[in-house]
Amino acid sequence: MDFDEKPSFVLGGNAMMVKLSRFSWSPLILIILLALLSFQITSKAVYPVKIAFTSSTSKDDIMADSRTCVGFFGELPERKAVLSIRDFGGVGDGKTSNTEAFRKAMRYVHRFGERGGAQLNVPEGRWVTGSFNLTSNFTLFLEEGAVILGSQDPKEWPIIEPLPSYGRGRERLGGRHISLIHGDGLTNVVITGNNGTIDGQGKMWWELWWNRTLEHTRGHLVELMNSQDILISNLTFLNSPFWTIHPIYCRLLTPTAFIYCLVSVSLMRNLVVKDMTILAPLNAPNTDGIDPDSSTNVCIEDCYIESGDDLLAVKSGWDQYGIKMARPSSNIIIRRVSGTTPTCSGVGIGSEMSGGVHNVTIEDLHVWDSAAGVRIKTDKGRGGYIANITISNITMERVKIPIRFSSGSNDHPDERWDPKAVPVVKGVSISNVVSFNSTKAPVLEGIEDAPFDGICMKNIRLLGVVSSPSWRCEFVSGFADDVFPAPCPQLQMDISSSRCSYS
Ligand SMILES: *[C@@H]1O[C@H](CO)[C@@H](O)[C@H](O)[C@H]1NC(C)=O
Ligand SMILES: *[C@@H]1O[C@H](CO)[C@@H](O)[C@H](O)[C@H]1NC(C)=O
Ligand SMILES: *[C@@H]1O[C@H](CO)[C@@H](O)[C@H](O)[C@H]1NC(C)=O
Ligand SMILES: *[C@@H]1O[C@H](CO)[C@@H](O)[C@H](O)[C@H]1NC(C)=O
Ligand SMILES: *[C@@H]1O[C@H](CO)[C@@H](O)[C@H](O)[C@H]1NC(C)=O
Ligand SMILES: *[C@@H]1O[C@H](CO)[C@@H](O)[C@H](O)[C@H]1NC(C)=O
Ligand SMILES: *[C@@H]1O[C@H](CO)[C@@H](O)[C@H](O)[C@H]1NC(C)=O
Ligand SMILES: *[C@@H]1O[C@H](CO)[C@@H](O)[C@H](O)[C@H]1NC(C)=O
Ligand SMILES: *[C@@H]1O[C@H](CO)[C@@H](O)[C@H](O)[C@H]1NC(C)=O
Repeated sequence: MDFDEKPSFVLGGNAMMVKLSRFSWSPLILIILLALLSFQITSKAVYPVKIAFTSSTSKDDIMADSRTCVGFFGELPERKAVLSIRDFGGVGDGKTSNTEAFRKAMRYVHRFGERGGAQLNVPEGRWVTGSFNLTSNFTLFLEEGAVILGSQDPKEWPIIEPLPSYGRGRERLGGRHISLIHGDGLTNVVITGNNGTIDGQGKMWWELWWNRTLEHTRGHLVELMNSQDILISNLTFLNSPFWTIHPIYCRLLTPTAFIYCLVSVSLMRNLVVKDMTILAPLNAPNTDGIDPDSSTNVCIEDCYIESGDDLLAVKSGWDQYGIKMARPSSNIIIRRVSGTTPTCSGVGIGSEMSGGVHNVTIEDLHVWDSAAGVRIKTDKGRGGYIANITISNITMERVKIPIRFSSGSNDHPDERWDPKAVPVVKGVSISNVVSFNSTKAPVLEGIEDAPFDGICMKNIRLLGVVSSPSWRCEFVSGFADDVFPAPCPQLQMDISSSRCSYS
């Protein structure tokens, strides 16, 4: 089939097929087609669970009461056209390249954007592919046993422009490799399935990094730019070359951009709760789990993440480029995430935060065998701010430094960074923390010319601190209440809720 010349409409990957020529839609054919389509949709259980982008319940109620963002979506959007990657010549044998099949499929389903949307199913099998771009009003559905494998040919991850808020590739000057699954300017996209897998096969890229032969910045597994109404759920992501999920400039007026790592179906339909899992070898460089970047209204829930870098890091651009772009990350909720990263942090803010980060709630985290639990990282030259961050209910085991603020990694995009651009850190509240067998008490290092202010610690129990039980604080101020071991004098034992809340 040649989808470019003769658009063919394949229904649900079965034998029924209606051929139409592109510009000669007769109204009759259209009506018949729509009738066939609705028959197809209703006769087939396409979605195991219904989630839609509109909900009758008040969004604020859901966020406040049930502590899940699932309700924001209500039901999964139904798509008029349902296709299979096989319809585009895809072969799931683990060897054949499906790059053209996926790109052809995406060009084809793009036509349904304004006509009820489309769903592309990836059946059981191993589907090797280079990068491809998603489209709006679209669902990518990985059936049980479906594995999408990232191509081992770097040319299949073409070079794209650097992000304006970074001014260059994060690792190398100039452009960067596109992500395996990419989207720009999209609305209403769902990436989900019955615990199917997207495996970036990043080893080749990590080796290029290790042996210093990487020419351009590595690609992410999934990157969505300038997009809204996104749901990523119920899948396993493996071996990303670089950061695993990177939503950037997803700025929304209504709270609708979410990543559900685990769709808490139990809260909706009383079914079994299923995890989404993000895994990379513990030594794989820069394989962050999820990095919301210059994005607003993001909800990340119920993830299990094991990787070679931060499980989660909230970012907003790099030094003068991020300052110029001034796109903050805000209104972010992260909860019920567990995992381990031996050399990095459970949850981090920064180090790139030059567009500002505010109104972030992080709760119900379980982190073990990691370098840090909660980490705020910034530097001179970053500018921007970190404000109104609320972190609570964190459990840690064998985390070297459970709470760490640091500055001064001296990691700048180029020589043009401004040493006078100091970040403002104001209003970070951390409460209800239990940590077992840490190496050190918290290390809180602010910036000399710009001390971190309004740091509030409440109900913190750091038990079995092995080597260094006294807090180390420099250029920070704030309050502490009910904290063990005793905090540094910079955090006065004089808490009052008014002094710890920032508005
Ligand atoms: C997506 O679908 C909505 C509702 O049908 C429609 O209004 C919108 O134009 C579509 N967007 C795109 C980019 O196709
Ligand atoms: C995907 O989109 C990027 C820009 O966002 C573009 O450079 C690239 O050519 C597109 N790839 C395909 C296969 O269309
Ligand atoms: C998630 O995957 C499981 C199978 O692993 C399936 O039973 C469930 O219906 C899926 N849920 C969604 C929302 O796709
Ligand atoms: C670096 O790693 C790549 C990817 O594994 C490999 O192809 C290349 O030969 C290596 N180069 C050196 C100098 O080791
Ligand atoms: C999904 O698959 C991964 C392995 O691919 C597995 O570790 C995980 O437990 C599975 N999750 C569920 C809910 O079945
Ligand atoms: C802070 O973010 C939450 C969502 O995380 C949102 O409900 C709330 O309205 C935001 N507050 C402000 C003042 O923007
Ligand atoms: C604290 O977080 C854990 C998960 O790490 C969760 O099981 C527990 O219910 C949470 N406790 C409260 C009081 O929210
Ligand atoms: C903490 O260390 C003690 C002594 O080595 C050990 O008995 C205990 O199991 C450890 N607890 C955790 C949670 O690692
Ligand atoms: C600060 O964060 C809290 C908790 O997310 C939120 O309720 C409040 O509205 C935020 N205030 C501002 C000014 O962002």
